[in-house]
Amino acid sequence: MKVAIVSGSVYGTAEEVARHAERQLKAAGLEAWYKANMSLDELLAFAPDALLTVTATTGMGELPDNLLPLYSELRDRLPAWNGKPAAVLALGDSSYDSFCGGGELMRELYAELGLHEVVEMLRLDSSETVTPETDAEPWLQAFAAALKA
Ligand SMILES: Cc1cc2nc3c(=O)[nH]c(=O)nc-3n(C[C@H](O)[C@H](O)[C@H](O)COP(=O)(O)O)c2cc1C
Repeated sequence: MKVAIVSGSVYGTAEEVARHAERQLKAAGLEAWYKANMSLDELLAFAPDALLTVTATTGMGELPDNLLPLYSELRDRLPAWNGKPAAVLALGDSSYDSFCGGGELMRELYAELGLHEVVEMLRLDSSETVTPETDAEPWLQAFAAALKA
């Protein structure tokens, strides 16, 4: 099972979490691949069986600039991914109105693509935790288990 991991990050936290996710999914026996600032052509060349997005939120509920090119390409070209398993790991701060709004935008895109969310979106709140990598571990374990089921 090939799992592509894409990220959206302003200050680097989501990239750290995405790298951690790659290690953990590999340890679970999956062929995980992470690259920051991935283009759609690179993503399609990998031919993923499943997709994981790890994204922060910026502005007022927006996606980070470094995920916008891929997000736009996916919306324009709508690859034939109907029914493939996927999940969103969202980083946010609950003191903002649109908590994890970037993650919600990715979920809307998943719906357009027909991607199937196999685990509910994880919301990590930076006003409550300084250890997002370890906080994500049980959820990543559940994601890996769902992919292998
Ligand atoms: C300017 C700015 C705007 C933000 N806007 C939001 C927001 O609208 N909703 C939210 O949930 N978090 C928001 N956040 C919080 C970040 O998403 C959160 O701190 C995240 O962990 C940052 O990850 P990064 O280091 O990968 O950029 C904002 C942070 C900053 C600095």
